[in-house]
Amino acid sequence: MRSARTQVGIVGAGPAGLMLGHLLHLHGIDSVILESRSREHVIERVRAGVLEQGTVDLMSDARVADRLRREGMRHDGIHIAFGGARHRIDMAELTGGRAITIYGQNEVVKDLIDARLGTGRPLHFEVDAVGVHDLLTPHPKIRFDHGGAAHELTCDVVAGCDGFHGICRSAIPAEHLRIYEREYPFGWLGVLAAAPPTSEELVYSLHDRGFALFSMRSPAITRLYLQCAPDENADDWSDDRIWAELITRLSTADGWAPAVGPILQKGVTGMRSFVAEPMRYGRLFLAGDAAHIVPPTGAKGLNLAMADVRRLADALDALYTSRREDALNAYSDRGLRRTWRAQRFSWWMTSMLHRSESDTPFDRRRQHAELEYLVGSRAAMTSLAENYVGVPFD
Ligand code: FAD
Ligand code: PHB
Repeated sequence: MRSARTQVGIVGAGPAGLMLGHLLHLHGIDSVILESRSREHVIERVRAGVLEQGTVDLMSDARVADRLRREGMRHDGIHIAFGGARHRIDMAELTGGRAITIYGQNEVVKDLIDARLGTGRPLHFEVDAVGVHDLLTPHPKIRFDHGGAAHELTCDVVAGCDGFHGICRSAIPAEHLRIYEREYPFGWLGVLAAAPPTSEELVYSLHDRGFALFSMRSPAITRLYLQCAPDENADDWSDDRIWAELITRLSTADGWAPAVGPILQKGVTGMRSFVAEPMRYGRLFLAGDAAHIVPPTGAKGLNLAMADVRRLADALDALYTSRREDALNAYSDRGLRRTWRAQRFSWWMTSMLHRSESDTPFDRRRQHAELEYLVGSRAAMTSLAENYVGVPFD
């Protein structure tokens, strides 16, 4: 067994783990990042695309925003489509100038990996059999296999940034965790297409055949989603079938429709709401999807992960510079407040915009009334806008 020591052991090199490692580096704090997948896999995984202002500001403050500044697309508004019409919500005007930026999560991850490699601090891909131990002692340990050898890493703190299916949350004894969960009876078929965006802003659409979302990644690439069954096999969706459904669900009476092009990638994601409380057990701190999942309709998951690690990095800085534990002790409560706010919003956006087989005629009418109220009321649009652009990181 090879032994090593660090201040913060980070499990997972998604956006949460990589950003935490980088913020700690800027504070002069040592960390080791351990990732079970390959570097290529982590970089190529297409997921989120909407960055809140707080995430953009964090990347700027952390000096990892050069490419984001060049290639990110600032959007001041979004469209909500139903009943054949598109309605624009001017988020910037409603929130005193706040906006979102479209920049792929995999681009964020690529920039953070480059920044990490530039610091020379350890980031190990393709580690196996990761386990966390001695979490209630001052020196928790991470054991793992890497490069054909067994390793033991002794830490001051372990950060569980290993996503929903990681091992950190499950290392916490069940009696110390409270789980809140809701599964939705549908999933999203996500598609990346070589087609230029035909709308400058996102279009969230509810059609009788279900939800569809028009998004983008660059002036040449569109990102689209279709509500489907949660266990749907993406291979059952031919390109022709995908485009026919997207055009049916997205086109509006003003003649707008997405442009068709070659499909580069497709995949199905299930949808759930999930919160594990508290986000701490002894010297283990959970961050990002390891602690909470939101359905993607509100575009909050990546942004919550970034808010978590910003709070955790600041709390660890206070620990190392002034031996103060109050911020670390407040980490979970403060994170859960933000998480529940995002949970409510993501649940609301999801229920307003999806069809479910269990919907009654009453539900359909109520859903339509909700959408009409939303696009007809400045107060309702402001409520959506201030949640969608995100409250400042605290
Ligand atoms: P992850 O990205 O899951 O990273 C965890 C990492 O840990 C992974 O690299 C994993 O391989 C690694 N790992 C797992 N187990 C281990 C182990 N045992 N040992 C070592 N490493 C391990 N969010 C938004 O904010 N805006 C959006 O527009 C948006 N759209 C989305 C669209 C889709 C289709 C999906 C699926 C998600 C979307 N999200 C969105 C959510 C967002 O992608 C996640 O919230 C985000 O990835 C969370 O980051 P994370 O670092 O916490 O977890
Ligand atoms: C995306 O561009 O991938 C995206 C946009 C908005 C969402 C979810 C995903 O709500």
